[in-house]
Amino acid sequence: MKILVTGGCGFIGSNFIRYILNKYHDYEIVNLDALTYAGNVDNLKGMDVKRYQLVHDSVANGDTVNGLMKGVEAVVHFAAESHVDRSIDNAQPFLITNVIGVQVLLDAARKAGIKRFVHISTDEVYGSLETDDGLFTETTPLAPNSPYSASKGAADLLVHAYFKTYGFPVCTVRPSNNYGPYQFPEKLIPLMITNLIEGAPVPLYGEGKNVRDWFYVGDNCRAIDLVLHNGRGGQVYNAGGECEKKNIDIVELVLDIMGKDSSSITYVKDRPGHDYRYAINNAKITSELGFKPEKPLRAGLELTVQWFRDNEWWWKPLKRRLVSESKGFWG
Ligand SMILES: NC(=O)c1ccc[n+]([C@@H]2O[C@H](COP(=O)([O-])OP(=O)(O)OC[C@H]3O[C@@H](n4cnc5c(N)ncnc54)[C@H](O)[C@@H]3O)[C@@H](O)[C@H]2O)c1
Repeated sequence: MKILVTGGCGFIGSNFIRYILNKYHDYEIVNLDALTYAGNVDNLKGMDVKRYQLVHDSVANGDTVNGLMKGVEAVVHFAAESHVDRSIDNAQPFLITNVIGVQVLLDAARKAGIKRFVHISTDEVYGSLETDDGLFTETTPLAPNSPYSASKGAADLLVHAYFKTYGFPVCTVRPSNNYGPYQFPEKLIPLMITNLIEGAPVPLYGEGKNVRDWFYVGDNCRAIDLVLHNGRGGQVYNAGGECEKKNIDIVELVLDIMGKDSSSITYVKDRPGHDYRYAINNAKITSELGFKPEKPLRAGLELTVQWFRDNEWWWKPLKRRLVSESKGFWG
């Protein structure tokens, strides 16, 4: 199978490309990536050039996207502006990539008769839960609160419209908070690990009480693989780690793994409109596709800490760039 992956030089996309090329030895991947600040060709260093090709362009460029559909059997769409804090600074790039980009891809894929299109969304489109609100299911109404999640929600509605209007069989996956190797060091877990390696404090929003579902990236790749091969057209699948934790609990666990204590935490002013709680119900993807998350949180974090310790060559230049741009925030 030849797959067009978008955003494959980012965190989840690069893990997914490695996963697929290792698992299916006769598959080929074309990776369309605009190489924004979050895209890094080093994430896919050493890939077999006979089975992997990078095209440097935007998903919003119709000519390029139309040209790339030739011979492709499936599309897996990760490309996005993905950082909530950056969307609060400037929403426009989020609308161009996350909304116009998906429209361009859907039109091109539909015209080319592609039968498998997996759109990667996020649990953030459901908005925020209170402690007693239960879990997000696929029928929870969309109620996004940040410019990032609003742009992802808009993309999801467009995907739904293409299924209803044209019968185009897109599957949507809504994963929870991923963590693992190759995550850009502006996000909570890699920021924390790299700060601690460098002897710097760990910033924590508000009182650290926000709750997220934590999902090891390798488990997410397995979930997306199942949807790619066995998902029903027009369906949405939640996918999460079944691991709800407060941010402060995650920080304390990482401090413990790295032999530090809470004196390394610096509390910072909360993000505006910060969603309180996300929690994912996996019942549909479990019952239809047999997916269960496998990596326990502590084991996944230990592996991630070790990866960042072993790969300073990868993150040190990115961190220096973030500091020079004064982008010290995280999410
Ligand atoms: N990271 C998470 O915890 C998480 C959770 C749920 C859903 N998601 C979703 O998963 C997807 C991947 O997330 P990630 O964390 O790997 O993101 P990331 O920011 O690490 O990577 C995004 C990639 O998309 C590329 N890109 C950006 N704009 C582009 C454009 N116009 N054309 C082509 N490529 C472009 C970037 O260069 C980068 O390689 C996103 O759609 C995101 O919304 C992420």
